[in-house]
Order: sequence, then C-alpha cells, then structure tokens
Amino acid sequence: MTEMDNAGRLFEYAGQFRLLQRVARGGMATVYEAEQLGPAGFTKQIALKIIHDRYAKQPEWLQLFIDEAKLSANLVHGNIVQIYQLGQCDNEYFIAMEFIKGVTLRALIDRHRLMGTPMAPPLAAYIASRVCRALDFAHNFVDRSGRRLDIVHRDVSPGNVLLTWDGHVKLADFGIAKARTMADPAAQRPLMMGKKHYMSPEQILGGQVDSRSDIFAMGIVFFELLSLQPLFTEDETEAAIDEVVVAPVPDVARYIPGIHRSLEGLLRAALSKGPAERPGAADFGRALDQYCVSHRETGSPERLQAHLAELFPDSYRPPTESTGNTSATTSAKGGARERTQGSKPSLVRRILGLG
Ligand SMILES: Nc1ncnc2c1ncn2[C@@H]1O[C@H](COP(=O)(O)OP(=O)(O)OP(=O)(O)O)[C@@H](O)[C@H]1O
Ligand SMILES: [Mg+2]
Repeated sequence: MTEMDNAGRLFEYAGQFRLLQRVARGGMATVYEAEQLGPAGFTKQIALKIIHDRYAKQPEWLQLFIDEAKLSANLVHGNIVQIYQLGQCDNEYFIAMEFIKGVTLRALIDRHRLMGTPMAPPLAAYIASRVCRALDFAHNFVDRSGRRLDIVHRDVSPGNVLLTWDGHVKLADFGIAKARTMADPAAQRPLMMGKKHYMSPEQILGGQVDSRSDIFAMGIVFFELLSLQPLFTEDETEAAIDEVVVAPVPDVARYIPGIHRSLEGLLRAALSKGPAERPGAADFGRALDQYCVSHRETGSPERLQAHLAELFPDSYRPPTESTGNTSATTSAKGGARERTQGSKPSLVRRILGLG
C-alpha cells in the first residue's frame, strides 16, 4: 500500500484514562491529575478536565463548547497548554490536556501581595510577553487550508496563566470562555463575577469581540502584575460596566510608583476603550521584550524558575523530580510537600511561619 492509500483510513482506539487525584474544582469543571493508558503498560501523565453536569446537560452550551474546542485543538505552541482530546464518557464530557506542574499566575500575584513585595518589572514583563506570544499565535492561526480561524481567548486572566516550575509561561483554556459567556446555563449567577474584572468594554457590554478584546484583558493582567491589585473591582453589573466602559482609565502611575514611561504608555494603549487604539499581541509582546533588553535584564525561564523556588518553598519541585502532588496550584497550600534542603529558612518561609 502506498502512503496515499492510507489517507482517510480509520484507526479505532478505545482510549482509557485513570484519575490520580483532584487538582482543583473550578466554576465550570473539575481538574484532575490523570494518566492516559496505552498498550504494554504505556502511561502518559495528563490533566483531565471534567465538565460539571449542569453544563454538559445543556445542548446549546455543549455545542458551542465542542465547536470552540475543535477550533483550538491544533493550537500547538510553547506558551499554550496543549489540548490532547475532547471526549465523552457515559454522560460526562472531558478535555485531556498537557499537565502543568507549577502555579497559576493568580497564586504568584497573591503571594507577592501577602509578602508585600512588588514583582520586579522585568519579570512581570517576561511573563506578560510570553502570554502575548500565545495570543499572537492564536489570533493569527490558520487551518490546513489556510483559512484564518480568528480565535479569541475571551478569558485572559491570572487564573488561566500557568507558570511551570521550570519557568515557562502557558496560557490555558483557549476556546472555553465562548460557550461560557454566550450560553451559560448559570448566566447572571455570581460565577461570572470574577470574570467581569478581566473583560473589555465590548465584551462586558455583550457586543462582538475579536482579538483586540484579549489585548484589553492582557492590559488588566499586566496592570495587576505590576501593582499587585486588581484594576477593576466592582461586582454589581451596572457598576462593573460603568468602571470598564465609562470611567476614564485610572492613572496607572499612581498605582505603580516609579513605573517606566514605556510600560506606562503600553498599559495605556492596551487599556484603550476603543479596540482600534490597542496594540496587536505581537507588538505588545515585542515592546515588553524591548523593555527588558533596554534595562539589560532578561526575563528568562531560569529567572522565573529561581523566583518560584524562592516564593513557593513548600510546593516548588525541581523539574527533574517527578511524582507527588505538584500540579499548577492556585494557592500556597495546594500541593504542599516540604523541600528538605537543610538551608536556613528563607524570608518567605519566615513570613509564612514555616521557617
Ligand atoms: N493543565 C493543567 N495542569 C495542571 N493544573 C491545571 C491545569 N489546568 C488547570 N489546572 C488547575 O486547576 C485549577 C482550576 O482550573 P479551571 O480552569 O477549572 O478553573 P479556573 O480557571 O480557576 O476558573 P474558572 O472555573 O472560572 O475557569 C487551576 O486554577 C489550576 O490550578
Ligand atoms: Mg481555567
């Protein structure tokens, strides 16, 4: 048989997964550390995200969810959490994806706030620039026939940015937010509240969103990285709309003392109410990289790795060590397993009362 004869041939495969432990329960799904099982003892560590029942039971929601997952399935990029499979088991829907050992950006920001220490701007710029690379890749993604897919993340927020223990930055949950915001069976419920704080004006108004909406969200995240406080805080719908859509962009220099002019300008541009005034993801990322270069400080995986090791002495695991509960934790408590180096307790450990 020639290779061409094989095209279109189906390989039926009844794959299996084994759940190892629950990592976290989010608003829409529960995430497990799991193993994908194959022949002859083959196993692969994965994360399995099982969609909550109340979502999976809504045909309209499910259809949107599946359509979006299909669009995102081929997004293979170093700064994107890769999806392996969308599946159904009995009446449960799940997504199998790359398992991330590390912490969420939410946890990193919270830890800095707890410590009362700002994040070094080059490190913040490094993290944000890698998220921008992920967005640039997705925004310009074309399918096999060269058709633009116009993928928009819609939920760029600190909880969806995962930081691996070896210092890499990965954006998770591509394509999941559309179903959630457009056909959410739990719409109008508090579930949406946290998300409101990372929405662009056009998104919070329920209008058409495109890639430029993600840039606004990226601006909010970058603001929070530098200031350690959320830009938008209103929970009540009308007030939330008011602060995002109507109120002028706050004077970022007031919240981030000593912010470099180039970063201030970048933040202002990203947070423009009008989508046309915001930079593209590639330009946003390049400007952040340029900032690092001009300050002769490279934001690098090595630097982020060392930083995470310092800030999360309990849960940090060197990349070469395997096993144990080492998944992307949202809080300092998750995945705790003591490191046993006999060195003197770090400042972080003393502040946390662990030293
Ligand atoms: N691929 C992954 N590998 C390891 N841990 C993950 C992975 N994806 C998610 N997690 C962990 O599971 C948690 C819950 O993720 P999930 O996406 O369900 O909820 P969320 O993003 O926190 O909030 P929401 O429910 O609003 O989406 C994350 O905060 C992270 O700690
Ligand atoms: Mg998520």
